[in-house]
Amino acid sequence: MDKKLHIDLQRVPKHVAIIMDGNGRWAKGQGMNRIFGHRNALTAVRESVIAASEINVEAITLYAFSTENWKRPKIEVDALMNLLINSLKKELPDFMKNGVKVNSIGCIESLPKKAQKVLAEVISETRNNTKIILTFALSYGSREEIVNAMKTISKKVVNKELDLENIDENTINNHLYTFNLPHVDLMIRTSGEQRISNFLLWQMAYAELYFTDILWPDFRQEHFYDAIIEYQNRERRFGKTSEQLTE
Ligand code: FPP
Repeated sequence: MDKKLHIDLQRVPKHVAIIMDGNGRWAKGQGMNRIFGHRNALTAVRESVIAASEINVEAITLYAFSTENWKRPKIEVDALMNLLINSLKKELPDFMKNGVKVNSIGCIESLPKKAQKVLAEVISETRNNTKIILTFALSYGSREEIVNAMKTISKKVVNKELDLENIDENTINNHLYTFNLPHVDLMIRTSGEQRISNFLLWQMAYAELYFTDILWPDFRQEHFYDAIIEYQNRERRFGKTSEQLTE
């Protein structure tokens, strides 16, 4: 059965965010170390981007490395950074072929220089692609993002570049890493954990949350479409009543 046929292409989420969880448990299940799990996560990344692109999702954001992930053993952090560097380089031709515009959010300056360089190159090479925006959240923490936005806004008020009375939701939006992305409509988390883990807190205010027990390395196009179908079966009321929505 082709799950794509069950998707209403008129009501596709504009922005899907994914917490890719369960690599360690998946590896353990195979009797292997955690790094083996991360290496086997790339197929799921590729499949999700292709699945999203095929139904015209505008933006997909992947939580690849959180600010808290720096606390992991150095060997695992190094392996994740190397994986990032190597896979970005390797995927570039496919990004070009598939119209993928790469973007990043997070404290990019804290990544190893080599990772920063490759990331900047891939972002630059893909900047004119228009099919889908693929954002990697790297050294990302939502509270830190909001704190930074507050500081920048406060400085502008102090310097009289901004009037306090004119601060509104758009002001905050425009000072987040995600200023150029639509709000998140759907958040998917794999591996059975039901938490948001400091990911896109502001941007997910009205997102539908979808949790699946599938471990990230096993996540495929069909699972992505299961999430989209579930999203389309939900009623997004944005605070209104059901009756108001049908009016
Ligand atoms: C969560 O699984 C996964 C991560 C912290 C890293 C995500 C990284 C990838 C999917 C690698 C590929 C991505 C790029 C951008 C190259 P976990 O280690 O927390 O698993 P566990 O909860 O089972 O221990």
